[in-house]
Amino acid sequence: MRRYDLETRLLHGGDYNPDQWLGYPEILAKDLALMEKAKANTFSLGIFAWSTLEPEEGVFRFDWLDKIMADIHEMGGNVILATPSGARPAWLSQKYPEVLRTNERREKQLHGGRHNHCFSSPVYRKKVAIINKKLVERYGNHPALLMWHISNEYSGDCHCDYCQENFRSWLKQKYTTLEALNEAWWGPFWSHTYSDWSQVESPSSLGETMVHGLNLDWKRFVTDQTIDFYQHEIKDIRRVTPNIPITTNFMADTNDLIPFQSLDYGEFSKHVDIISWDCYPAWHNDWGTTADLASKVGFINDQYRSLKQQPFLIMESTPSSVNWHDVNKAKRPGMHLLSSLQFIAHGSDSNLYFQWRKSRGSSEKFHGAVVDHDNSEENRVFQEVTKVGHSLEKIKAVKGSYKKAKVGIIFDWANNWALEDAQGFSQQSKRYAQTLQEHYRSFWNADIPVEVITPESDLGKYDLVIAPMLYLIEEETMDKFTEYVTQGGRLVSTYVTGYVNETDLTYLNGWPKKLQKLFGIAVKETDTLYPKDRNQLNYQSKSYEVQDYCSIIELKGAQSLGSYVQDFYAQQSAVTKHTVGAGTAYYIGARTAQDFLTDFYTALAQELSLTNPWVVAGHPDVSVQSRDFEEESYYFVMNFSEEIQIIEVAEESTDLLTGEKISKHIQLQPYGVKVLHP
Ligand code: GLA
Ligand code: ZN
Repeated sequence: MRRYDLETRLLHGGDYNPDQWLGYPEILAKDLALMEKAKANTFSLGIFAWSTLEPEEGVFRFDWLDKIMADIHEMGGNVILATPSGARPAWLSQKYPEVLRTNERREKQLHGGRHNHCFSSPVYRKKVAIINKKLVERYGNHPALLMWHISNEYSGDCHCDYCQENFRSWLKQKYTTLEALNEAWWGPFWSHTYSDWSQVESPSSLGETMVHGLNLDWKRFVTDQTIDFYQHEIKDIRRVTPNIPITTNFMADTNDLIPFQSLDYGEFSKHVDIISWDCYPAWHNDWGTTADLASKVGFINDQYRSLKQQPFLIMESTPSSVNWHDVNKAKRPGMHLLSSLQFIAHGSDSNLYFQWRKSRGSSEKFHGAVVDHDNSEENRVFQEVTKVGHSLEKIKAVKGSYKKAKVGIIFDWANNWALEDAQGFSQQSKRYAQTLQEHYRSFWNADIPVEVITPESDLGKYDLVIAPMLYLIEEETMDKFTEYVTQGGRLVSTYVTGYVNETDLTYLNGWPKKLQKLFGIAVKETDTLYPKDRNQLNYQSKSYEVQDYCSIIELKGAQSLGSYVQDFYAQQSAVTKHTVGAGTAYYIGARTAQDFLTDFYTALAQELSLTNPWVVAGHPDVSVQSRDFEEESYYFVMNFSEEIQIIEVAEESTDLLTGEKISKHIQLQPYGVKVLHP
């Protein structure tokens, strides 16, 4: 049995950097005492510790790590041991400048920062292999070792000569001939036909940015090259410790947590044993409500659960503020427990922090941490963390449970890249990821569980699949959709779907025939509106505002569910429904506000019996999420508002956090949370 499988606790703890404190033995001793107080049981070690582990080339120092691992073990804790490749010692950059990244302007970077090595450099690969092998040989059998944490937040690209060569090899493998590449990239446009492979270069603002097929393939290559580097990192680790799970920490983009843009995590997730990720929502911000942000947190956590169809880990989060938001606001009292339990509610088996102890110097000295510069357990943040520690112990029964969902929303990285790159529509209003968040919101408000999947996912398990704005869609996906609907599935797609194929070439002869057959319509034009322009659509005797995009639709067998009110396409269909085999395909032709999406999906959810039977009378700001085993479920009831809320549920239950019996009428304080077991 693997240690990870034997672990019955939810993980609580986080990044711990004792290597920054080796000159402060009293601090290290205090850390251990505080860990026990905070009910922290798991620590990620060694993430940026290379210069401490190998202070000079070939000179290794493990005594400090031996000691801290032994101490954590003695305390009954776990170690998530990292490989140190996320940042490197100065001697390495100085002696082997090829390890430094070259940016898209072909400038070789200087030593400094982190997350900035070349993924192709043979020297970097060699040096990483040496240190990783030492770590696995020394600690592979360590009783505290729970998991491997490979590098840290892989990201970015390198444009050096090694990477260019690798890119060309990757292209040769994909296209075989230069003719095929020229065709796929639409070579003759602006005379971009290549006559020799050596002419192909990565995109650069000093050179090529207009060949969309090139841009798209570069992004795919960067994902593959990063995964290749990761595979290189884990070679010895996998060989020596086949039973220790391997992860690398993923991210999200922007303060609003849209899916990470620069690597295709759909691909990457196939190579890790467990998905883990770093979640930093900007709670209490001045651009949206608490529920707005909570819904986005729900979306992205559902995505990381769905990608591998198993529980995931929150590898990093902050006990209070971060240091890199525009404004680094403290979590209000209660928000730390609420937001921590929300992670668990969506399928995380951990809440780990960045970081355990606040750094004394450099750029993260004001980043929130469990232990502040005051070195005290008396402060509010430490107390709230301790409360989370106790709470995770009380709800540990949920560990390992999944979450049943019948609705799948498709997010596709290649589509996102191609759509962002497209010079057309309106650059400001594409908002692909945000559009998915808006569709998701209708389900979150109604407490209907959702999975966020990719076009590759098995669709058969869903009663409803939602695929908005699939601008790039492969023929294979069209076939898959058709098969899914024919077998009885319900599919919803929208405006800006069905433009280009997998190499970003447009489909010829009108909207793709396969989509025409599936949706029973032909999209004749897409009207892009100015930000202040509005139209309306009439649907079920109500009128809804329309903005940004209007597809002009010709019916070809579909039934019209709603039509435009204004402009040269007034009275024409804006929303359609088409029966194919045992299922139905819906097309929403225009971008609307939340009101339409909510009404549309509420009707569909009722028709398909997707509504949550446990929630008799919910509230949009109160999120109910369950963690499910075959026979039983645990319900997380979370108030993401600043007011007292009351909801009604189907059963009486016990609140695992307090032991209290809870009636069917549940009252929640502002930011209140309960974990209910009927
Ligand atoms: C990332 C990194 C951490 C730390 C945090 C700060 O998630 O992985 O090392 O810098 O950001 O929020
Ligand atoms: Zn490189």
